[in-house]
Amino acid sequence: MDVLVVGSGGREHALAWKLAQSPHVERLFVAPGNGGTAAVAHNIPIAATDIPALVSFATRERIGLTVVGPEAPLVDGLADALAASGLRVFGPTAAAAQIEGSKAFAKRLMIEEGIPTGVGAIFDDYETARAYLRRQGAPIVIKASGLAAGKGVAVCRTLEEAEEALYRTMVERAFGAAGDLVLIESCLTGEEASLLAFSDGITVTPMIPARDYKRVGDNDEGPNTGGMGGYAPSPYLPPPLVDEVSQRVLQPAIEGLRRRGTPYVGVLYAGLMLTSLGPRVLEFNCRFGDPETQVLLPLLESDLLEVLLACVEGRLEEIELRWKPACAVCVVMASRGYPGDYEKGREIAGLAEAAALPDVVVFHAGTAPANPDGTGERLVTAGGRVLAVTATAPTLEEARQRAYEAVGRIRFEGAHYRRDIGVGASAAVQRTGPCWREWVS
Ligand code: GLY
Repeated sequence: MDVLVVGSGGREHALAWKLAQSPHVERLFVAPGNGGTAAVAHNIPIAATDIPALVSFATRERIGLTVVGPEAPLVDGLADALAASGLRVFGPTAAAAQIEGSKAFAKRLMIEEGIPTGVGAIFDDYETARAYLRRQGAPIVIKASGLAAGKGVAVCRTLEEAEEALYRTMVERAFGAAGDLVLIESCLTGEEASLLAFSDGITVTPMIPARDYKRVGDNDEGPNTGGMGGYAPSPYLPPPLVDEVSQRVLQPAIEGLRRRGTPYVGVLYAGLMLTSLGPRVLEFNCRFGDPETQVLLPLLESDLLEVLLACVEGRLEEIELRWKPACAVCVVMASRGYPGDYEKGREIAGLAEAAALPDVVVFHAGTAPANPDGTGERLVTAGGRVLAVTATAPTLEEARQRAYEAVGRIRFEGAHYRRDIGVGASAAVQRTGPCWREWVS
């Protein structure tokens, strides 16, 4: 089968890398791809948001399955457009993707379906929102309801910060129409975890739990980013808790969407806070996580294409996911300035030396060929998040050390990365013993 992956980040490189290992995949395309996907697939110069061009490419090339990475084209109806042309697609329809496209929609769904989440309220009027905010006090969370490239959530420690965030979102419209509706929510504390699940619209099959790090700096300091690293499996969400989240969160969400006439086919991602009162949903995403995918797929033993096809064909119940008895840690290397305005065009050295380490994969996010005509092997930085360096090993601590050893071999001017990815979890595992044995199926 010929397969098309849509997107250009580290997540899409990981998807293409894993799909390329399937014996069922003949030609593999990535649109538009990056410097890394070019090594495992054919990059096609079509933007992930150009729905008509993607549909005509998939039609012309008789693509057997299109796998959509990012949320924006899903929310804009890429899956609907492909399906309307008789093409198979892995990813939800625009209506079902509202679970990420509108945080207000997701909050209402959670309340109506009894899914555990933080207390909050939705506003379309600035003055009313500000009055509510002043009554609630800090700490508090301000969320733009619409898509804001991961930047629309402000966790505010003081009322002053919260008022500023609300003003920026609703009055200055820093995120455009995405901030016309705003959620003001209680600030939850605990360990964070991401539980992603495959769904065919009825059956829900959770993956192993992962964790990402959203803040740019060590100890969760500094502004939010798209994600600066991650690990899997999370020792904080052992199998009984995964079952609980599956029953109380994922299944009610999938069932609720199905009952509303918008069945959900794709990956449903629950961002969780593991509070002292139990898991609470922070957000839903309608796709694979980035960088969670870069730690999950290297641990997935099953053939990814078979799993995706089972979802699309409504027979996920036939599939039992198999996971490697190992842990993975991913460290994201970013350009100077990221998550603000960042530099581009810096030459990247040491990629081969890093990838030569055992069980290390360097997923590319913002890289491009140094030569504008695409020839030659030299690569330069071309995005905020440049590389996602993943290592797998029998324990989280070994995976962490190997990932940082690989990072140490890569150089580009202005590179920065967090130095504490997996530190707390690794210490927790050392206290409680290795957790991965429980995940082997
Ligand atoms: N890792 C966060 C996200 O994919 O949205």
